[in-house]
Amino acid sequence: MREAIRFTLIVSLIVGLIIFTIVWPVWGFSIFGIVLFAIGLYDIFQKEHTILRNFPLLGHMRYMLELISPEIHQYFIENDTDGKPIDRNHRSYIYQRAKLQKETHPFGTQLNVEEENFKWMRHSIYPTKVQKEYPRVNIGGPDCEQTYSASLFNISAMSFGALSKNAIEALNKGAKEGNFFHDTGEGGISDYHRLGGDLVWEIGTGYFGCRTEEGNFDPEQFKEKANWPEVKMIEIKISQGAKPGHGGVLPASKNNNEIAKIRGVEPHTDVLSPPGHTAFNNAEGLLGFVEQLRALSNGKPVGFKLSIGSKDEFLEICEKMVETGIKPDFITVDGAEGGTGAAPIDFSNYVGMPWEKALIFVVDALNGFDLKKDIKVVTATKIFTAFDIFKALCIGADICNSARGMMLALGCIQALRCDTNKCPTGVATNDRRLMNGLVVADKWKRVKNYQQQTLDDFLELFAAAGCERLSELNRTMINKKINDKIESYSVFYPSVATGAYLKEERVAP
Ligand SMILES: Cc1cc2nc3c(=O)[nH]c(=O)nc-3n(C[C@H](O)[C@H](O)[C@H](O)COP(=O)(O)O)c2cc1C
Repeated sequence: MREAIRFTLIVSLIVGLIIFTIVWPVWGFSIFGIVLFAIGLYDIFQKEHTILRNFPLLGHMRYMLELISPEIHQYFIENDTDGKPIDRNHRSYIYQRAKLQKETHPFGTQLNVEEENFKWMRHSIYPTKVQKEYPRVNIGGPDCEQTYSASLFNISAMSFGALSKNAIEALNKGAKEGNFFHDTGEGGISDYHRLGGDLVWEIGTGYFGCRTEEGNFDPEQFKEKANWPEVKMIEIKISQGAKPGHGGVLPASKNNNEIAKIRGVEPHTDVLSPPGHTAFNNAEGLLGFVEQLRALSNGKPVGFKLSIGSKDEFLEICEKMVETGIKPDFITVDGAEGGTGAAPIDFSNYVGMPWEKALIFVVDALNGFDLKKDIKVVTATKIFTAFDIFKALCIGADICNSARGMMLALGCIQALRCDTNKCPTGVATNDRRLMNGLVVADKWKRVKNYQQQTLDDFLELFAAAGCERLSELNRTMINKKINDKIESYSVFYPSVATGAYLKEERVAP
């Protein structure tokens, strides 16, 4: 708000001076001269900014241009295949589907199909009929009493707080109308999540919504909410790809009465999300926690989400599953390229395994220990298009989630301001003025449209591949070029035979 007032004052002052100069040119130019002289003097004597001391007046240009550099880059410089983290082609793909505008693409691909790492799918001479019904996947292993039938494409975890209340409402309504799920993120379940969409309640290290005063897990509070009818599944968040091994602080300034109530914390205090869980600190403990949550929720599917760090740690969890017979109902795999509201740059850039390798590793490990039959693999990370879903399922995922794709459907323009509370589209901010720009009654339809149109496209690819059942998807159907060699994924990443790791003393993937 202060920024807006300051901006309005400066603009009014400049406009006033220009009008004044037009009407009384001599006085106007004199005043302009005096103002510029004063700014120049200030620049020379201030000690904070070297550029301004060395280049008085001119140096301000740099700061002004820096302020709008993401927009300049996006509007004037970026190509269709540029743009980070999400290029313009992908953003347009999402916008077009969200707005039901256009599904075809003119004049051929703009992609360099000969470049290293290029991927494509194998189609069939004998395509099948395009199915009318969206396929669904049952989640829930042998210990689950309330299995959930999930869509192939859902809303990935993003908390109220990271996203505005309007954004959460639009996502939830979209999920309800489109019959897919909405993951709450680790910030707890708010009223904005309760418009009727199916929820996956995510429990992070802060145990928001089910925590004791000391910040530990509170079974009683968990039990009450886990049994709400809209809560369909429970997801223990171990880590997310953009900041694995890093916790977070909800600063006192953001911790208002509303957020405090939802999260179950003291308002106007700093609240810590530690990097790790206090409810467990080893593989057995994690599985015990899975079992406890399943019992407290009366048998709803319980899983965990992680970004892969140490392969050995994950393999140890699999070994313990075999040993104890306790298994999660699903595992969500996130990649290092994943998104976040805010994270330290070293964690975003250099911690965690990239998505494709992580997904392949998890699927192979579960197959190797003969666990895949009971555990569904959910995955997120840059799954924006029908081809992305197709590829993930061919690698071995069962269903996909999207976070940033859904944000773009809501109107996000990739302004890269999620961590400043100044998101211009009202998606990732709690600034009332900015958030009011996001009209829930319009935007929920875009979320639903994007999800459905992408699944429609998926069904067309599925038919083009000659498939009738999801179980037919496999690694031979995706090709890629590595070191100038073109092979299918089944050659680059051969599937591990079911139970193969059970026969070995120690696994070395
Ligand atoms: C604004 C924002 C907030 C997020 N908050 C959470 C969260 O609370 N819990 C979580 O597990 N992941 C969180 N994520 C990660 C996403 O759920 C997802 O795993 C990741 O962004 C990869 O998916 P994408 O490429 O579709 O964005 C967040 C991502 C974004 C962009």
